[in-house]
Amino acid sequence: MPGSSGGCLSVLCLLGSFYLLAGDPGGCCRKVSLQYNPGLNSSSVNLLHVRAVGCNNTLHYVWSSIGAPTALLVYTDSESSALRVNWTKLLSPSPAGAIVVEPAGSVLYSTAVVFSRVFEYNGANTSDLTAVHEDNFYPTYDLADFSWESVNRTLNETALSATFQGVSVSDPKGAFRNGSISFRVTAYEESSRDTLLPRLLHTANSSKVEFIVNRVAPRGNGSRFALEIITVEEKGGRKTLESLRSINDEYTPTIFEVAQLVSDARNDSAGPSFLQWKATAYSSQNAMREDSYHCRYYPLQTANRTLPRLSIAHAYFGEALASQHSVAAINISFGSEDNEAYEEKGYLSWSALIGFGTPPKDTFSPLVMAIMVVALGTPVVLLVAGSFVVLLVQKKRLEEMAAKDHLA
Ligand SMILES: *[C@@H]1O[C@H](CO)[C@@H](O)[C@H](O)[C@H]1NC(C)=O
Ligand SMILES: *[C@@H]1O[C@H](CO)[C@@H](O)[C@H](O)[C@H]1NC(C)=O
Ligand SMILES: *[C@@H]1O[C@H](CO)[C@@H](O)[C@H](O)[C@H]1NC(C)=O
Ligand SMILES: *[C@@H]1O[C@H](CO)[C@@H](O)[C@H](O)[C@H]1NC(C)=O
Ligand SMILES: *[C@@H]1O[C@H](CO)[C@@H](O)[C@H](O)[C@H]1NC(C)=O
Ligand SMILES: *[C@@H]1O[C@H](CO)[C@@H](O)[C@H](O)[C@H]1NC(C)=O
Ligand SMILES: *[C@@H]1O[C@H](CO)[C@@H](O)[C@H](O)[C@H]1NC(C)=O
Ligand SMILES: *[C@@H]1O[C@H](CO)[C@@H](O)[C@H](O)[C@H]1NC(C)=O
Ligand SMILES: *[C@@H]1O[C@H](CO)[C@@H](O)[C@H](O)[C@H]1NC(C)=O
Ligand SMILES: *[C@@H]1O[C@H](CO)[C@@H](O)[C@H](O)[C@H]1NC(C)=O
Ligand SMILES: *[C@@H]1O[C@H](CO)[C@@H](O)[C@H](O)[C@H]1NC(C)=O
Ligand SMILES: *[C@@H]1O[C@H](CO)[C@@H](O)[C@H](O)[C@H]1NC(C)=O
Repeated sequence: MPGSSGGCLSVLCLLGSFYLLAGDPGGCCRKVSLQYNPGLNSSSVNLLHVRAVGCNNTLHYVWSSIGAPTALLVYTDSESSALRVNWTKLLSPSPAGAIVVEPAGSVLYSTAVVFSRVFEYNGANTSDLTAVHEDNFYPTYDLADFSWESVNRTLNETALSATFQGVSVSDPKGAFRNGSISFRVTAYEESSRDTLLPRLLHTANSSKVEFIVNRVAPRGNGSRFALEIITVEEKGGRKTLESLRSINDEYTPTIFEVAQLVSDARNDSAGPSFLQWKATAYSSQNAMREDSYHCRYYPLQTANRTLPRLSIAHAYFGEALASQHSVAAINISFGSEDNEAYEEKGYLSWSALIGFGTPPKDTFSPLVMAIMVVALGTPVVLLVAGSFVVLLVQKKRLEEMAAKDHLA
């Protein structure tokens, strides 16, 4: 049946190319370079500049652990825009204006994401952070008060990654004697899907940040952690929280939800920026499906939010930050009553994408596509095959009748 199998193939091709088109938006790749503490010959503080050059535009990511760990994202319409850091000013008590992207006229959009605090609480009875009684909270870890190791030695130019690893400075119970909290940053040159769970789909316009709690001693039984994230949006812009159903396929088994913070000033086709994550975290470095923790997020708080007193966001946005920018904050907690407690493995990792433009969106995977093609295609094939057989039989009958007629 050459006709019907050809038809089936072209359906497959059609769906396949649809998948490729939908799964690989953006087109243009970026040339990414990493620079550690540009203009400073010291590794006592950490500032990582990720420069991602595209066609007629550049995305600058500035990650720093000076104060609370912060990512700045600056989009310029020039391939030669550059980051300038005035270190004297940056390390002074009034850092406003210490970080600039030049030429100033090329900057079209900028935003910041600040990782401010880590909460630890007894979550034995509930996975809902807001339902936990205040007596069940341990003293909060303020990430601006952490001491961070040199990022320089973790720089990997091949993988385009680096790790900010820190310990609490005031640590009366010695929880950080063997452990640390880290932010592992990865930049991308093109659209693809991570090989590791939760297999986030990324574009060249995004970077990944992994929040890792590794061997930090829990301060009690049934300990759970939560992370507070603060975003800064320029005047006029505002972040909104969206939830998307995810497709349960071989890439992300059992994960049904993707959440994202997007700027509502965006056009539906191309938004300025996003923070996107899957509602899952993992209790193992080599995450497997069974190591997943449920991750839960809470309403975005927009009223009267302020930034931690120390963050490179102040150095970039300057004095106008409070009056001209909108600040929003969100909590994300890890683990539920059904999951094993943190103390069992002493490890927690959660990943998110920070990026410019439209957030990546999952489409059907090739396997699901193939199943759909088979499921939809089989009846068609049967129908075609069936009518073919009917035709053959009829033709044979006619021939036989004709032969009989002939004989007669
Ligand atoms: C990435 O950014 C460029 C502009 O620099 C834009 O044209 C493109 O559509 C963006 N891609 C995605 C997937 O958002
Ligand atoms: C950086 O500092 C070290 C010691 O303080 C010095 O030996 C080295 O030459 C300096 N490098 C540069 C590029 O200034
Ligand atoms: C970072 O590491 C490189 C090589 O490992 C070294 O040459 C450079 O001086 C280091 N930079 C700082 C600021 O320590
Ligand atoms: C980049 O800019 C140049 C000069 O302004 C223009 O000719 C070219 O078409 C632009 N390329 C893209 C991909 O926008
Ligand atoms: C850096 O900042 C200091 C303190 O604000 C200022 O005195 C100095 O001129 C600045 N340096 C440059 C190169 O702008
Ligand atoms: C959990 O619930 C039990 C029974 O209601 C109670 O005894 C215990 O104190 C609760 N623990 C926490 C941390 O709330
Ligand atoms: C850098 O990353 C590449 C690719 O992931 C890896 O093969 C390599 O071992 C890494 N290098 C270092 C120094 O960790
Ligand atoms: C740190 O590790 C050592 C050796 O593995 C262990 O004896 C000690 O109890 C650990 N301390 C904490 C606070 O976990
Ligand atoms: C944790 O649980 C163990 C046994 O389940 C108990 O012996 C220990 O006292 C508990 N620790 C705390 C801090 O409640
Ligand atoms: C959104 O796009 C439309 C046309 O595509 C344009 O007219 C409008 O100005 C854009 N709005 C913003 C906020 O960029
Ligand atoms: C925000 O601050 C204003 C003035 O300080 C106050 O009137 C208002 O009640 C606050 N709103 C919230 C939600 O705390
Ligand atoms: C996060 O949760 C903590 C503890 O309940 C609370 O103090 C804080 O205000 C919350 N932050 C946000 C942004 O909801």
